[in-house]
Amino acid sequence: MAPFIPEEKITEIRDTCNIVDIVGESVVLKKAGQNYVGLCPFHTEKTPSFTVSDHKQMYYCFGCGEGGNVFSFLMKHQGLSFPEAVKQLAERYGIQLPRREMSPEQKRRLSEREQMFQLNRLAMEFFRHVLRKDKIGAVARDYLKKRGFSADTATAFNIGYAPPGWDHLLGYVKHKRMPVPLAERVGLVVRRQSGQGHYDRFRGRIIFPICDSGGRVIAFGGRVLNDDLPKYLNSPESEIYSKSRSLYGLDVARHHCRSSEQVYIVEGYFDVIALHQHGIREAVATLGTSLTREHVRMVQGLVGENGRAYLVFDSDEAGIKAARRSVALFEKGFVDARVLVLPPGHDPDSFLFKHGADKLRELAAAAKGLMTFLIDSAVSRHGLNMEGRIRVLEEMAASLAALTDPGARSIYIKYLAETVDIDEAAILEKINQVAGRSKPGEAREGVRRQSPAEQPGLALSQGSPIERQLVAMMLQFPEILPEMRKQKIVAMLDDPVLRGIGQDALDGREHPAPGESGDASEYDFHRRLKAQLSIQQEDWDYRGCMRIIRHFVSTKRRQASAPLDAQIKQAEKDRDDERLQQLLKEKQEQVIRVRNQQGAVGISKEVD
Ligand code: UTP
Ligand code: MN
Repeated sequence: MAPFIPEEKITEIRDTCNIVDIVGESVVLKKAGQNYVGLCPFHTEKTPSFTVSDHKQMYYCFGCGEGGNVFSFLMKHQGLSFPEAVKQLAERYGIQLPRREMSPEQKRRLSEREQMFQLNRLAMEFFRHVLRKDKIGAVARDYLKKRGFSADTATAFNIGYAPPGWDHLLGYVKHKRMPVPLAERVGLVVRRQSGQGHYDRFRGRIIFPICDSGGRVIAFGGRVLNDDLPKYLNSPESEIYSKSRSLYGLDVARHHCRSSEQVYIVEGYFDVIALHQHGIREAVATLGTSLTREHVRMVQGLVGENGRAYLVFDSDEAGIKAARRSVALFEKGFVDARVLVLPPGHDPDSFLFKHGADKLRELAAAAKGLMTFLIDSAVSRHGLNMEGRIRVLEEMAASLAALTDPGARSIYIKYLAETVDIDEAAILEKINQVAGRSKPGEAREGVRRQSPAEQPGLALSQGSPIERQLVAMMLQFPEILPEMRKQKIVAMLDDPVLRGIGQDALDGREHPAPGESGDASEYDFHRRLKAQLSIQQEDWDYRGCMRIIRHFVSTKRRQASAPLDAQIKQAEKDRDDERLQQLLKEKQEQVIRVRNQQGAVGISKEVD
């Protein structure tokens, strides 16, 4: 359990902060009618469909279906847990959260997740201390010095040293009375195969702490000081660490990226710190994986919509492979991605120490965009004789097919047509061939498959239109709530999610935070749908609302009588006159009942 935050504190925070300000810090918002719109930070788009309502204090993206309130925005955008989002806002607006000195009992109750962060921080401090101060750390200090790294650089990245030996960190964890099983879960210690107990994962290695954008330590990478293998050992993925969503150096680079609107994406820990030491402070590294959609999203957040990303590679081969994979990702990211290939035998670290930062900047200035790079490199590899041109076309078709923006596509088709001297129409045909051949999902490599609850279409179409309209009405036009309650409309809704949202509206309740109540994806879905229904622009008036309610009630009654109609038909078919008479009588009574009830709806309007 997370530290307890009283409900009224949460309400106070929500009432104090303005979602437009909070969202506005990371999304450029423009006023549009009652709302604000901007480019969605959760999916990539060119025309703004991300809507923030000042009035409702909610956001909703009509493109991807993401939506919620200020807390869910921070949770989603910064990867915070609910209590973390609450805490962040409280601090910002100077709202005091209840704080007590932690008793052992409360310590135990601190969420495991937070303890995992704590353990990592503890480990980082331990390793850092060994590197800076301990006799045992002298070899690591020497190693870094020999490679040209200053103590300042080591400090900036909190670099450390894990001493050789099996239980230095383990002993420290125990000494600090932190739970060893959790240390195992974050991968700091490993359980012994035979016998009992644990041992340190990182031994005799330079340690690079990996942080999230908020500076929390989520994992470690460790390098040997010699040629032993494996060269690097990394923390396993855990509840708090996912490689595909993490970039090494992000916490240090982010401010620099924001101001220069640039980022260098490299492959190694040492490359990041080398760039930093040479004054290029906007550097991050992937962590042994290729670039993912999440990475591109993070990068977009860092450099903004006019930003530029340099993908730095050791070789043409690596550059081509990565560029091919990244075309679709970056095209949708609206980040201008450039491919920077270093001279043979160099990585950024070795290049910088040999040639200096200015030379690297020169290479950056000359770096080509992904598509241009791919086309030019295909031409230089295959040549421009007849066979070569055919191969270039073959090779480029898939990348061109991955482009969804018609403008960009046509520009590159033109460029390819001119470069290779092939008819544009022939290129188009080739692209269509390729696009048709690949199975869905394959064409857009790297694009995350969405689970049903994540699919925006589903959120938009949940329940019948009239049920959605009724719930939207409850959210946007609270004057109607007494009538809804009186007629027990919510109980009549067929769709369980809409029923839940409707009931929350009646009870004036915010949906509980995820994790505290059952299935997170279900919660997410509920939240998005609620945001959508709250924000969708509609003009409500009492009379119109009553009409919708009446229509809904009468449709319900008709549905209820449907089985009766079927029975009547059957009796007619069977020529069972006696039964037919009986059924027609029932039907008559039903019609009268419905008419009376509809009247009641009309009357209640005057009464309220
Ligand atoms: P490199 O082998 O290029 O190492 O791996 P490097 O970063 O240049 O390190 P130095 O300069 O030789 O000391 C690039 C990245 O791939 C991952 C690490 O993230 C590394 O920074 N890697 C590499 C591993 O995870 N494990 C390995 O065994 C090797
Ligand atoms: Mn290197």
